[in-house]
Amino acid sequence: MAEETITIEVLRYLPENGAEPEFQSYDVPLRSDWVVLDALNHIKDHIDGTLSYRWSCRMGVCGSCGMMINGEPVLTCAAFLTKYAPGPIRVEPLAHFPVVRDLVTEVTDFVDKLKHVKPWVVREEDKPLEEGEFKQTPAELSDFKSYTMCINCMLCYSACPVYGLEPGFAGPAALALAQRYNLDNRDEGNDERMARLSNDEGIWSCTMVGECSEACPKDVDPAGAIQRYKLAGAAEWWKSFITRKGK
Ligand code: SF4
Ligand code: FES
Repeated sequence: MAEETITIEVLRYLPENGAEPEFQSYDVPLRSDWVVLDALNHIKDHIDGTLSYRWSCRMGVCGSCGMMINGEPVLTCAAFLTKYAPGPIRVEPLAHFPVVRDLVTEVTDFVDKLKHVKPWVVREEDKPLEEGEFKQTPAELSDFKSYTMCINCMLCYSACPVYGLEPGFAGPAALALAQRYNLDNRDEGNDERMARLSNDEGIWSCTMVGECSEACPKDVDPAGAIQRYKLAGAAEWWKSFITRKGK
């Protein structure tokens, strides 16, 4: 009996050809243990070696295999072919990012946004080594632990309509990353981050659509992180307002 197949429609873009991106169809075996990434690897290995895309771990850890599947941002290593049967399955590069080639997107803007939030423990004064480590209780850790689970897959940016319209927006993962450090009891960089992010390209651009948290494969809940950040920003503003009035 002939093996059952499913059609994968891949958006191809080869800049050296000077042509507009166009879909190319490939038939691949419909195996119950294959994910979309397996199908792309099958195409690359057996049908068309010119296909370009990123991946590394094949286990939802490296964050490099994110693509649009039937219009939704997902990790292709976690998307079983059978979920989309009988197909066809449309595979496109992550939305809202410039495309370098085929399914490979340009990530420089995303990385710059992560760096902008000072994603490290900021201290006003270093503690001498002889004073030992900084202590942190499990309760203190649990306050921000979910934000440490981010794998930088950028799915939340592709799901975010605000980032799609305003590329200057810091975006869900960067703001959740800022909160990861703001809420860390060892960190003293809250004011510096607030000065960078309490503006129209930071927390106040978020319209709380919540698509970012829906798309996140790691339950980071960036929408919740931004909501908490907005509350802190509003409290900060009131504090400075009252202080000004009292002078
Ligand atoms: S917050 Fe979630 S969706 Fe966004 S980059 Fe991190 S892991 Fe990916
Ligand atoms: S290949 Fe690493 S997350 Fe999918």
